[in-house]
Amino acid sequence: MSAPGSMRVVALVPAAGSGRRLGAGVPKALVPVLGESLLVRAVRGLLNSGMIHHVVVAAPPEAPEEVRAELNPLGPVARVVPGGSDRTESVRLALAEAERVVPDAGAVLVHDAARAFTPVPVIQDVIRAVEGGARAVVPVLPVADTVKQVDSSQRVTATVDRSHLRTVQTPQGFAVDTLRAAYDNAGDAATDDAGLVEQAGETVTTVPGHAHALKITTAFDLAIAETVLAAEPVPEDDLP
Ligand code: C5P
Repeated sequence: MSAPGSMRVVALVPAAGSGRRLGAGVPKALVPVLGESLLVRAVRGLLNSGMIHHVVVAAPPEAPEEVRAELNPLGPVARVVPGGSDRTESVRLALAEAERVVPDAGAVLVHDAARAFTPVPVIQDVIRAVEGGARAVVPVLPVADTVKQVDSSQRVTATVDRSHLRTVQTPQGFAVDTLRAAYDNAGDAATDDAGLVEQAGETVTTVPGHAHALKITTAFDLAIAETVLAAEPVPEDDLP
């Protein structure tokens, strides 16, 4: 085990989604929020952690050059590969590239471009947890709403005890060999990298997430991003 801080860390950014639900007419990662794309904001956030050595972005397969040009101002720390037909494939391709570029990496983060406003301390907490020996780490939030279970006719069958429920954000952090093994054995497409690690029988631990790390999916989310998230820095006392 490396001493804290000595582990080389790579970050994978799956950004190959079409963003159909956002209806912006461009890949979601390239949608601007107050003049700056979700992708640039997400990658800059990762770099601002000061703990990441290299970033690999999975671009829409038809637009790798556009994505490269978008990231150019950030310098040579971000590499772009064409993504796949689903998120799992995009992560698999980015992981292969990361292992080529930084073969001695000990930790890998997977961070959705759509979570462009994730506060830097959340990113740092995830990395520190992996450096501290966790094999897989996810940022989580408690569930605010009451949760009901329904049957196929939409009738309520149970009220779920939400005290044990969490919603999951990114970046998710992994020991590199743990994520590689999970992806080597992955069958169907997964929405969640830690889910693949769970299926492989590994323990997944949690750190506190943050409301600002929401996934920009709909026009409503984009409006929140423009009026709140991009407009104001996160208050210090609101950070984990
Ligand atoms: O569609 P959704 O918002 O769930 O996608 C989550 C993340 O996965 C997004 O950042 C999206 O760009 C990425 N993705 C990808 N390759 C795909 C589909 C989605 O990298 N083929």
